[in-house]
Amino acid sequence: MEKTFAMIKPDAVQRGLVGEILRRYEQKGLRIAGLKIMNVTEELARKHYAEHVNKPFFPGLLEYITSGPVVALVLEGKNAVAEVRKMNGATNPLEAACGTIRGDFAQEVGRNVVHGSDSVESAANEIAIYFTAEEVLSFDYLPNTWLYE
Ligand code: RTP
Ligand code: MG
Repeated sequence: MEKTFAMIKPDAVQRGLVGEILRRYEQKGLRIAGLKIMNVTEELARKHYAEHVNKPFFPGLLEYITSGPVVALVLEGKNAVAEVRKMNGATNPLEAACGTIRGDFAQEVGRNVVHGSDSVESAANEIAIYFTAEEVLSFDYLPNTWLYE
């Protein structure tokens, strides 16, 4: 089944939104395959955001993502990549629909509370950046019987 990488960013951890955000992903039916609170080092951030390192917003993004602990997640489900992107909402919270995580909990692009991989390929890369193979668990997830035809 498809896996994606998601992150609850430092602002959301500090604002006490970890439980609320996890609740949403769980209620959607995504299986939590990996979960940890951790600090993002500059080295990790440069790997994760390699496509953005030369963009004007990168210094701010680096400062943001390394400013405090994040919660790193591996989530699994049918179409997990697209489902998490939809639940997270548009990158700029001003454009994010109500009912999405960014639409409901964020106001600015530089404090947009969550991350989600943008493709299956990015997901595999990002999972490998943040998790060892042993930290990503496979187990029978009984709700799948009722989630999928
Ligand atoms: P994410 O990677 O966090 O899931 O968000 P995304 O795909 O929707 O957006 P992306 O273009 O990959 O940008 C990564 C993160 O960089 C910050 N950003 N700031 N100030 C700006 O113009 C700007 N643009 C992007 C955001 O934190 C964004 O989530
Ligand atoms: Mg992105």
